[in-house]
Amino acid sequence: MADLDTFLDELQSTLNEQTKTAYGEEAFDRWRNPPHRGRPSAANCQGSSTGNCGDTITIFLQIEDDTVRDAGFHTDGCGSSQISGSMAAELALGKRCEDLPAITGEIVRDRLGGLLKDDEHCAWLAANALHDAVGDYYKRTLHHTEQA
Ligand code: FES
Repeated sequence: MADLDTFLDELQSTLNEQTKTAYGEEAFDRWRNPPHRGRPSAANCQGSSTGNCGDTITIFLQIEDDTVRDAGFHTDGCGSSQISGSMAAELALGKRCEDLPAITGEIVRDRLGGLLKDDEHCAWLAANALHDAVGDYYKRTLHHTEQA
């Protein structure tokens, strides 16, 4: 049994090292424990984006006074979608709504230290979901203003 445990520990360690080498330190650490996972309890808007891969990233925002007070994400996709959603939520925190469209897929990818070519679209999905969430906020705000 001890041999099996040792074998599994060594296998896990090898896989971790290979993943760290492929994705870089920043992405690896974020993948192990992605910050901002889930819907913040006071979120008041959300946006989603589905890629050709069939996976969807959703970004949740709590916006007050046109400023992002809290942000979170959900994805049913790959590890790169996890870290991209996490980074997009983090980049949105504290920003004003008008500054959110400037958070592009390129910025998400670059802040992660880059992604493998095949996974770059995950960063764009996260950015698109963020932009969709801002649109949702404006729609709700406009609707609320029209009813007042
Ligand atoms: Fe589908 Fe990453 S989100 S492969």
